[in-house]
Amino acid sequence: MTDVVAPGRVAVVTGAASGIGLALSERFAAEGMRVVMADVEEPALAAAADALRQHGADVLPVVTDVADEASVEALRDAALTTYGAVHVLCNNAGVGGPHGPVWTASRGDLEWVMGVNVWGVLHGIRAFVPVLLEQDAGHVVNTASIFGLFAGTLGIYGPSKHTVVALSEALHSQLREAGAPVGVTVLCPSAVRTNIATSDRNRPATAGPSAGSGPAEQASVEHMAGLVDAGRPPAEVAGLVVDAIRSQRFYVLTDTRREPAILARARAIVDGSAPLPPLG
Ligand SMILES: NC(=O)c1ccc[n+]([C@@H]2O[C@H](COP(=O)([O-])OP(=O)(O)OC[C@H]3O[C@@H](n4cnc5c(N)ncnc54)[C@H](O)[C@@H]3O)[C@@H](O)[C@H]2O)c1
Repeated sequence: MTDVVAPGRVAVVTGAASGIGLALSERFAAEGMRVVMADVEEPALAAAADALRQHGADVLPVVTDVADEASVEALRDAALTTYGAVHVLCNNAGVGGPHGPVWTASRGDLEWVMGVNVWGVLHGIRAFVPVLLEQDAGHVVNTASIFGLFAGTLGIYGPSKHTVVALSEALHSQLREAGAPVGVTVLCPSAVRTNIATSDRNRPATAGPSAGSGPAEQASVEHMAGLVDAGRPPAEVAGLVVDAIRSQRFYVLTDTRREPAILARARAIVDGSAPLPPLG
């Protein structure tokens, strides 16, 4: 397939103001690509785009709420008006949400996490894949999580990321059946050093108050924040993604230490046994 990570090509990255999305934007710009940077956090997005421009990058920041279909369609329209094409789409924006059991979550908790993590990817696919299909080549990168591959729950977060993995597998099959020159990669990171532990900063007022957290949930939040602080640098993860696009790799993992848990899940499915404890 033609190289879509190349000078003059256009990438759209959601969640581009911070963490993995910012690192992807920086890497694509360093490759000479034009980058549409989408994020719901306006000041952080403006600062990130300014910093990239100061290094000579051609970037377009667009304030976007990926949970909102009209907002993602406006993002597509802005990308096409400015650059005339899109070759790489990174559905990367995501939020952590509360860690407690699903039955204790508020409806607003569930709608927020599923809205960003699942509907955000669906909106991105529906708005942008028809545009990618008009190009000579394209690629979709969906950011899931290692918790999309085994029973790492964190409330509704793990299930939302399992959905992103399934959506990516379906998209890959459907594009292959259509004979389309559009590749798919699903990024399943373990801990990466980003601002994911403070996702609540972007929780919309419409989600209402969170159901709150007990001591066990708080301990889980602190444990995960520690793992994230000790995680891989986002620039390394962006490098893995670019390599995957170029080599048409589908699954991208960032830490081999979780491989036994993935294999144990597959074994449990075949054996009919129960899932192992998260991170057990
Ligand atoms: N950091 C990790 O350890 C880790 C591990 C596995 C998966 N992930 C996934 O990586 C992706 C990127 O997260 P990160 O770790 O870089 O965190 P981050 O918080 O640093 O970056 C996420 C970005 O998404 C943006 N965002 C949040 N809600 C949005 C919305 N509704 N619309 C548009 N943008 C929105 C935030 O403003 C932020 O800039 C997420 O999908 C996350 O679930 C992260």
